[in-house]
Amino acid sequence: MMMRPVNAAIVYYSATGTVHALAQAAAEGAEKAGAHVRLRRVAELAAPEAINANPAWAQHLRDTADIAAATLDDLAWADAVLFGAPTRFGNPASQLRAFIDTTGPLWAQGGLAGKVYSAFTASNTAHGGQEATLLALGNTFYHWGGIIVPPGYTDPVQFQSGNPYGTSHVAGDGPPGEVALQAARYQARRVVDTAATLMAGRAA
Ligand SMILES: Cc1cc2nc3c(=O)[nH]c(=O)nc-3n(C[C@H](O)[C@H](O)[C@H](O)COP(=O)(O)O)c2cc1C
Repeated sequence: MMMRPVNAAIVYYSATGTVHALAQAAAEGAEKAGAHVRLRRVAELAAPEAINANPAWAQHLRDTADIAAATLDDLAWADAVLFGAPTRFGNPASQLRAFIDTTGPLWAQGGLAGKVYSAFTASNTAHGGQEATLLALGNTFYHWGGIIVPPGYTDPVQFQSGNPYGTSHVAGDGPPGEVALQAARYQARRVVDTAATLMAGRAA
């Protein structure tokens, strides 16, 4: 039987481009794994004064203005969703949380259950809370009845990138390099492959 491709949504927030780079790599990985991909940024909610006080933030917002904003339809459409957000005081950035907090109606209809979920992040320092951020997103996936698919150490790149909870990058070291980007591509591939296996099993 011919299965339709997996629908994969990459939903992210990024102020200065680090998580955006990981999101783009995840989109590449998902596409290469055969998925239909929607790369979506959540809406920026910070005050213009705060954004304009940081030239890198203002620049990145301008540079990504043509990326579609995430909507509930993207989650309803998706078989698999990868969420990305910078670490803010050990938690996902509030812009992503604010989007997640709009999902009540979809959740109430069971529209978020049974999908595959995974997460990625960045922080300025190595011990600045990457795992905490990824686990915090996991709390939400539990509430949704999601199937959480972490990368673990299931590919050689994971022994280089070193985070089994999800792709992460230390932004203080500069933009994500090839190892982090490859880890994001791999994580997306694993998510898409798992969603495809689930779809085939459900169809059988
Ligand atoms: C309000 C705020 C809180 C932050 N909290 C943390 C933190 O707890 N740990 C850390 O290592 N970095 C922290 N950072 C740094 C961000 O995680 C970092 O700038 C971000 O990962 C870069 O991603 P982006 O380029 O996609 O915005 C914080 C930054 C801001 C603005």
